[in-house]
Amino acid sequence: MSVAALVPAAGSGTRLGKGPKAFVTVGGKTLLARAVEALRGHVDEVVVATPDGSDAPRGARVIRGGGTRQETVERLLRATNADFVLIHDAARPFLPSRVVHDVLAGARVQGAATVALPVADTLVRGADNAWGELVSRAGLWAVQTPQAFRRTLILEAHEAARREDFEATDDASLVARLDRPVRLVEGDARLFKVTTPSDLALAEALAVAWDA
Ligand code: C5P
Repeated sequence: MSVAALVPAAGSGTRLGKGPKAFVTVGGKTLLARAVEALRGHVDEVVVATPDGSDAPRGARVIRGGGTRQETVERLLRATNADFVLIHDAARPFLPSRVVHDVLAGARVQGAATVALPVADTLVRGADNAWGELVSRAGLWAVQTPQAFRRTLILEAHEAARREDFEATDDASLVARLDRPVRLVEGDARLFKVTTPSDLALAEALAVAWDA
């Protein structure tokens, strides 16, 4: 059973304000290079999507991304024939091996699996900085990547979403909306997504321990 890692890295990084986010460096390496390095040893091939289809990191094939994350992932899905795909955001550069193993094992059993973390904070719905309704955190998970799928299943889910004009921020939710099971696999706090300047400061600090 062949496995391809697909890495959407075509975002513009607007909230970070440092150009295309995947090419921002932490601890002297780009976020994309870190993600590819963590994936390479676990899969048969790595395909990345960058804004202009150039700048492939070592050990990866590169294609041009789309206007949204969802379009980028659909392009990546069409760029491989692997039986299983592991989709991982370049913006999550610290990827432990244990997580890759667990999420792939989940997909082999159920067809679809995602890494997620049980929510630890108190949750409230707010408007205009006013405390509204308390939301119970019982049973709530925060969804991360990597996510792993049988390729034909996730392609079917993407095609359905495009036909029905449904846009999501991840891929597992496209499978779930077809009423197909998605396995939740315990994630890791180090898999946080680098989105804001303060995330970047956290990533710089973590890189020191990660690279030691
Ligand atoms: O913007 P956000 O942080 O949610 O992006 C998540 C991931 O999707 C990032 O790795 C980003 O590079 C990627 N992306 C993409 N193509 C887009 C938009 C985002 O590959 N058009």
